[in-house]
Amino acid sequence: MRKRLPSSFYNPITIAGAAIASISFGLILFLMLLETLATEPKPYMGIITFIILPGFLIIGLLLIAFGIYREHRFDLKGKHREHILPKLDLNDPKHRRAFIIFSVGTILLLVFSAFGSYEAYEFTDSVQFCGTICHKVMNPEYTAYQNSPHAHVACVKCHIGPGAGWFVRSKISGSYQVYSVLFNKYPRPIPTPIKNLRPAKETCEQCHWPNAFYYKMEKQKTYYLSDEKNSEMKLTLSINIGGGNQATGVTSGIHWHMNIANQITYIATDRARQVIPWVQVKSKDGKVTVYRSTDEKIPQSMITKDNMRVMDCIDCHNRPTHIYHPPSPAVNDAMASGLINPDLPYIKSISVQALEAGYTTKDIALDSIKYAIEEFYNLNYPDIASKDKNQIEQAVQQVQKIYSLNYFPEMNVSWKKFPNNIGHLYSPGCFRCHDGKHVSKDGKVISKSCNICHTIFSEQFGNQKPELSLTGVKYQHPIDIGDSWKEMECSDCHGPK
Ligand code: HEC
Ligand code: HEC
Ligand code: HEC
Ligand code: HEC
Ligand code: HEC
Ligand code: HEC
Repeated sequence: MRKRLPSSFYNPITIAGAAIASISFGLILFLMLLETLATEPKPYMGIITFIILPGFLIIGLLLIAFGIYREHRFDLKGKHREHILPKLDLNDPKHRRAFIIFSVGTILLLVFSAFGSYEAYEFTDSVQFCGTICHKVMNPEYTAYQNSPHAHVACVKCHIGPGAGWFVRSKISGSYQVYSVLFNKYPRPIPTPIKNLRPAKETCEQCHWPNAFYYKMEKQKTYYLSDEKNSEMKLTLSINIGGGNQATGVTSGIHWHMNIANQITYIATDRARQVIPWVQVKSKDGKVTVYRSTDEKIPQSMITKDNMRVMDCIDCHNRPTHIYHPPSPAVNDAMASGLINPDLPYIKSISVQALEAGYTTKDIALDSIKYAIEEFYNLNYPDIASKDKNQIEQAVQQVQKIYSLNYFPEMNVSWKKFPNNIGHLYSPGCFRCHDGKHVSKDGKVISKSCNICHTIFSEQFGNQKPELSLTGVKYQHPIDIGDSWKEMECSDCHGPK
């Protein structure tokens, strides 16, 4: 065979390298074509196309160069060491051909690798990559996210945000995460709060502007009790969202915490930031007030700068998108919207029990839920079991759906592990500080008054006449528990046991 290229190209290493490089290149082109033609996104293909194959391509190219270099070194053995590098003579047709192939190849490669790294970058930032590649690990977060108000906001908007610095940081910690997934080293569930989450100012506030909070938000809630009739109760809350805007003169309300002029710093004694015995407020005029819990004493040694955290959006909105709903409100909502028929006796109670029974896998859970609900009616209400078979069937499906969206036994994830800090019913939330037991030296108390955060416009039990008042009705707990709802925290009874 006539050799069309300089002889140093003809060695096994270079030829193997060329083969690897061209096969990878061909495969990349082929997969890209498939991906453009595919009707639904295939995240695993992205890993192969943009991360694994380019790796092989680069190895191939390195092998080509290494082979040539080695061959050249052999040639030099025993000769004058005048030319350490290969000599290039463009008048020699072999050299000319090699030169052209090399230059064109390099240019093509540069263009493709620019395009490829951009694709790889886009791809590792995509919701698909974050949510589905680590399928089992991120399944809870991804599922909850898809059913949340932020379902159309990409993961990276909150987890990375704009700018190169955080991008690099996240890819470095991300590499460790990929490693821990590959070698099964990750914790279940993934612990929160995330220590190095980017400050909310640089993520949330890109879309939400605290200065624009000055209105009230009305929420209507329907509850059902655990009795045979599933007794109904309705509540209208007007929530004082306001707070941040000095220009309009509104300086009270919930987002007051976020008013730029105020700074709240606190120390939590547990990792999940649920126990907060020490709170400090620095007002706009520089006055500092420290509140300490009379219930939970904090050791003096813990009051250090390192332990302090300045309050931001995440301290209340810790579940803006990965929301794992507790069973009671989830079932209430399904009943209020008619997806579960409230006329089925004890349906509230039996649904909540079925959800909370504690299962080891999702499949077992779904089967057990069906069995528990059907058996309950077969045993206790045989006539309803046959007459309202469809209603029961529909209730089973809804409860199974609630389970699938909110419980992830494989990752040990549910509302019990991820308390939502908005509110105070199912977890301490606002009452971590607003429990009426955080007192300053001069006797000021962080308020627990039922009207500072919201006004209860109306409260209605069953078909009774509703209590109405624009300044707030006197709250009546749905069942008689004396004054304990004033003295205890709601979550002592309603929270995870
Ligand atoms: C609206 C902003 C936002 C979006 C969008 C978002 N997250 Fe999060 N995510 C958060 C916040 C805030 C936390 C931290 C909560 C804490 O520290 O208590 C978090 C926590 C997590 C955690 C830790 C476990 C947990 O449940 O708290 C994982 C894993 C996670 N997110 C993955 C994702 C994935 C995957 C996506 C995209 C499918 C995504 N996130 C989209 C805001 C967001
Ligand atoms: C890329 C833009 C974007 C970012 C970043 C973002 N959000 Fe949102 N947020 C939205 C959109 C869009 C909605 C939905 C508005 C709607 O449905 O009316 C929303 C809704 C909300 C709501 C109302 C939820 C409800 O129940 O209706 C809250 C609270 C919220 N975001 C908090 C946050 C917090 C906290 C962060 C930071 C961790 C954040 N957002 C980051 C765009 C964003
Ligand atoms: C002290 C706790 C707290 C802090 C801090 C806080 N919020 Fe809120 N935020 C609330 C509560 C409570 C609501 C009422 C929503 C509800 O009850 O579901 C709310 C509502 C919202 C809403 C929804 C408004 C609407 O009309 O739908 C957005 C958006 C929001 N907050 C964004 C933010 C952002 C961004 C920050 C950080 C700058 C922030 N919040 C800081 C407690 C807080
Ligand atoms: C880390 C502790 C902490 C948490 C958690 C917290 N707050 Fe506060 N809040 C404070 C402090 C401190 C004050 C100011 C008390 C003072 O000096 O008057 C305050 C004041 C308020 C005020 C009154 C503002 C005014 O002057 O009109 C409202 C309303 C409020 N908080 C709502 C909430 C809501 C709603 C939540 C839960 C979503 C919440 N807070 C969670 C510490 C906290
Ligand atoms: C520090 C602020 C704050 C104080 C004080 C406060 N609440 Fe609330 N409350 C909230 C927030 C925030 C929510 C959540 C609204 C939501 O679910 O969007 C809430 C929700 C509720 C709900 C509806 C629960 C649900 O999740 O369906 C009831 C009932 C309620 N509060 C009663 C009370 C009573 C009674 C008191 C007085 C002992 C009180 N609140 C004091 C902030 C507060
Ligand atoms: C001593 C324990 C206890 C305390 C404290 C308590 N509750 Fe309850 N609560 C109950 C019981 C028991 C029920 C009835 C549950 C049922 O029938 O399913 C109930 C029912 C409810 C319901 C309707 C059922 C639901 O979850 O859908 C609401 C709403 C409620 N409580 C709000 C509150 C609020 C708000 C507070 C705090 C201000 C509070 N509770 C404090 C024991 C308590």
